[in-house]
Amino acid sequence: MMKLTKYVDPLPRLDTLEPIGELDGVPYYEVHMRQVKQKLHRDLPPTTVWGFEGKFPGPVFDVDRYEPIKVKWINDLPDKHLLPVDTTIHGAGPNEPRVRTVIHLHGGVVEPESDGYPEAWYTNGYKEVGPFFEREIYDYPNIQRGATLWYHSHAMGITRLNVYAGLAGPYIIRSPREAFLNLPIGCYEMPLLIQDRSFNDDGSLYYPSEPDPPIPGVDPSVVSDFFGENILVNGKVWPYLEVEPRKYRFRIINGSNSRFYRMRLSSNQPFYQIGTDDGFLNSPVMTEEILLAPAERADVILDFSGQMGEEIVLTNDAPSSFPNGEPVDQDTTGQIMQFRVTVPLKCPDRSRIPYRLTKIIPLRESEADTIRYLTLVRNEDQYGRAFLLLDDERWMEPISIAPKLGDIEVWNLINVANSTHPIHLHLVSLLILDRQPFDVDHFKETGEIVMTGPAVLPDLNERGWKDTVRANPGEITRFITRFVPFSGLYVWHCHILEHEDHEMMRPYEVLINDTME
Ligand code: C2O
Ligand code: CU
Ligand code: CU
Repeated sequence: MMKLTKYVDPLPRLDTLEPIGELDGVPYYEVHMRQVKQKLHRDLPPTTVWGFEGKFPGPVFDVDRYEPIKVKWINDLPDKHLLPVDTTIHGAGPNEPRVRTVIHLHGGVVEPESDGYPEAWYTNGYKEVGPFFEREIYDYPNIQRGATLWYHSHAMGITRLNVYAGLAGPYIIRSPREAFLNLPIGCYEMPLLIQDRSFNDDGSLYYPSEPDPPIPGVDPSVVSDFFGENILVNGKVWPYLEVEPRKYRFRIINGSNSRFYRMRLSSNQPFYQIGTDDGFLNSPVMTEEILLAPAERADVILDFSGQMGEEIVLTNDAPSSFPNGEPVDQDTTGQIMQFRVTVPLKCPDRSRIPYRLTKIIPLRESEADTIRYLTLVRNEDQYGRAFLLLDDERWMEPISIAPKLGDIEVWNLINVANSTHPIHLHLVSLLILDRQPFDVDHFKETGEIVMTGPAVLPDLNERGWKDTVRANPGEITRFITRFVPFSGLYVWHCHILEHEDHEMMRPYEVLINDTME
């Protein structure tokens, strides 16, 4: 495959979706998923992708807190999948329709029927539907904190393929209080959705049809992870953005299947991180480095004032897989995008980096109703393929996690595998308590936890509400959360999509306590 020249295409500004009308008194959106051709780089022929409203990535939802909306996600995709479907993995069997989709609002606090349960998929024209939650119009109450969420396909066994084909986009919730913070807004604020992709010479998306070496008797076969050779932001390969010498707010989303990004700015200037996955930090965190696993978000302010004429590269040095895999190639995957400070200041920059952003009220460990110990563990499937499991359980096994509505729980993620897994829970936001190294071999032999070092508090820029938490190998990662405000069926999973599709996902159920009925 040819090497693509960096920084020849401007960063696309994603469209904002508009409702088509009202339904039951709230704004109503219809969003079509379609196969389209799109130019992803100056020198690439148009690439066939799956987009929302014909766009990859999908347009932005920009909504206000406490203002509910309704969305009908319409599957207008072709009958043939764009990418190789492995029919040996659970939920994607030979009798299932190949092209299925269901949309999940990642980070969204929504009822189970609107959450995009993996088995609530449906085909083109809603002709066939999966076994769960038949509901065509989803409710998004937007009752949660202002935050950068994102929406993406979540269909059982083919999420990695649907998202790689293009089915993802940003969803922004603004709290009314936010207006008083005087952050950069309008054209000085934008989402940056980072994804990696590989291409064939004809411009088509490349995604492996089997691992190397191949698995005898399984073709196509899921791979254990996938790292694209090109880095795209908002659907362009290595774009540049011309900026004014002033402050900007970027909502960075890692929408990649497997790739982590450990970002810096080539100018060595800091990021002022103001928010995590699900809301503001207490105060901005000034940091020269931000690490995002798949599905994590960072809300940041960059200040380009006094930098007229400079070209600043957003770099990446996260090995793939993380943290012990291949180093990046400085010239390609080691770079993400470029900021060119070339546009004269249109008016004085009156935006601010406030000293205080919010007041996070932590959940107290002493109030936890349940403490869980859950392993992240490698195993082998019937074809001899290595795969990963949550607490050694597969999707099909009976539900083993069923908190009562309102319960506070502490989860200990015991990672005995050899890479970091970004663990995501639907419905809830969580706070990371700490991470502590333990004796993996001893644990594997005896099931007993022996710590080998002190517990370390989360990074300063992780001390906010999150929905996706990095569980590092050889460490026990603890978080605390409260199961509110809805009951019913949800999922938790690793957000490395190749892992999620290959059994690293489990349902859980929030139960209604009978005293509440
Ligand atoms: Cu972003 Cu269950 O997913
Ligand atoms: Cu989610
Ligand atoms: Cu994983």
